[in-house]
Amino acid sequence: MSATYLTTFQLKHPPFTKEIEDSELWVPPSKQSVVADAMQAIDAHESVLLTGEQGVGKTCITRLLRHRLPQAGFRLTYCHNATLGRRDFYRQLCVALGLSPAATAAAVFYAVSTHVEELGRERVHPVFLLDESHLLRQDTLEHLHILLNYEWDSRALLSLVLVGLPELQTRLELRTNRSLYSRLTCRLSIGAAQPDDTAEYIRYRLARAGCENEILTSDAVAMLHEAAAGSLRDIDRIATAALRMAAKRKKKLVERDTLAAVLHAEVEE
Ligand SMILES: Nc1ncnc2c1ncn2[C@@H]1O[C@H](COP(=O)(O)OP(=O)(O)OP(=O)(O)O)[C@@H](O)[C@H]1O
Ligand SMILES: [Mg+2]
Repeated sequence: MSATYLTTFQLKHPPFTKEIEDSELWVPPSKQSVVADAMQAIDAHESVLLTGEQGVGKTCITRLLRHRLPQAGFRLTYCHNATLGRRDFYRQLCVALGLSPAATAAAVFYAVSTHVEELGRERVHPVFLLDESHLLRQDTLEHLHILLNYEWDSRALLSLVLVGLPELQTRLELRTNRSLYSRLTCRLSIGAAQPDDTAEYIRYRLARAGCENEILTSDAVAMLHEAAAGSLRDIDRIATAALRMAAKRKKKLVERDTLAAVLHAEVEE
């Protein structure tokens, strides 16, 4: 059904989809440096805070980490259901770690921390990646630093990577969360895409789908950039709509008027 615009622009697959392989992700120098800093921190057994507005590419950075951290020596566990209370949060972590979840809060916490210690003995460094951490319930958030405490807080057996919207940082700065915040020694943020980033991202994703031509005019790209306000996810959505609209209008180029029509239609909805 959606084949029309793919045919019009000779694309092998939809270019702006989230279904992109880890190895195909776009890694400009700005993202490269975030990944390198996070890797360096994890390698030093530190914990990481990664913040940024919606859609700027935080989860994709965690996918790059998964792809790049050596398999030997690290065990990455990804948790994204952040809205759970403390006991259910640790139960979820148990399941993700392949442990059988115990009944009480104390027992699940014990199971997780014992597992971390066992990995430490095997010289495997566990990394718990908590996506959407701004949604963490307060009882869970304020307990997390205890999970980082091994042998009288003298061993760094676990790295936490907390990923979330900028309000996560604001929450961590609150007095009640300072114990955790002070342990998140590597603090990284991803900024909104700048005009050049938007243009390069669009070019990159079109090229991955087999189109090397500039099928969006530069003023259309400028308009798209402004509308997306630096969110790659919003670029995906608007660019896809623009390609569809151009194909429907039997155009071989996505020009400013097509972009304007797409944005106008969005406002109408
Ligand atoms: N490095 C990248 N390479 C290719 N596409 C990317 C990259 N980063 C982001 N994207 C695109 O932007 C979309 C949104 O990125 P991502 O889900 O990582 O954002 P986010 O910051 O985690 O957003 P949210 O705060 O809403 O969870 C992805 O689905 C993907 O299509
Ligand atoms: Mg995300």
